[in-house]
Amino acid sequence: MRIDVRGTATAYDDTGGPGTPLVLVHGFPLDRRIWAAQVRGLADVARVIAPDLPGFGDTPASRGATSMDTYAAGVAGLLEALRIDTAVIGGVSMGGYVTMAFQRGFASRVRGLVLVDTRAGPDSPEARKARDTAAALARAEGTGAVAAQMIDKMLTPETARANPAMRRSLLDLMSSQSVDGVVAALAAMRDRPDSGPSNARIAVPTLVVCGAADTLIPPKESESLRDGIPGARLSLIPDAGHLPNYEQPEAFNRAVREFVATLPR
Ligand code: MLT
Repeated sequence: MRIDVRGTATAYDDTGGPGTPLVLVHGFPLDRRIWAAQVRGLADVARVIAPDLPGFGDTPASRGATSMDTYAAGVAGLLEALRIDTAVIGGVSMGGYVTMAFQRGFASRVRGLVLVDTRAGPDSPEARKARDTAAALARAEGTGAVAAQMIDKMLTPETARANPAMRRSLLDLMSSQSVDGVVAALAAMRDRPDSGPSNARIAVPTLVVCGAADTLIPPKESESLRDGIPGARLSLIPDAGHLPNYEQPEAFNRAVREFVATLPR
């Protein structure tokens, strides 16, 4: 589906239905297809809405500067366009950064938060440099080169070995992203603020989820994230790396399903 959000033809999946709206924001360098198992598997408990951020999947890059705040404003614009007042907002990794930015900018529209394999803190100086190196690589050699560098940090080695088709389709998905989208997101991640102070003011139910074997943003980070959000709970997903929703969808969906069931309707 596509809808105009402040001049950007935004692509999204929407299961519809009367359930609690649950927005799921993809990570980097991914798109809404990463949530296919949630769109299929959670539609009975929530109205699942999964957008492509500008420059990813089927949504064209938007003009002007990109930041976590502009991504979050796009998500808010999508909810407005769909006439949804409040929703549970969730995201994996970079999608978690967007979710925390949404919470800062649009707190009154948040019913609950699902933060998956993400972190509160900003980039270290080394990480900032690595963003620029990755952007130069994307420009010089295309997004496939960036994807090739990242792929083995996304899934557990066990899954990558046992399920080469899953690894291949993830690599294809990552490689299919546009250079403009990838370069803009790298700068936006590099310059993102510390979400720690705003997280300490979160007043809605929050579920932190982490793949127990994530090496990119390890469980220790998720423990700190949980500790920095009043009342937050942490669910560790066994046998999963950086994308537990993709690698272990049943366990992931169970955790989200239980969380959504605790929320006031
Ligand atoms: C992601 O998975 O979205 C990114 O790897 C997050 C990051 O690089 O900080």
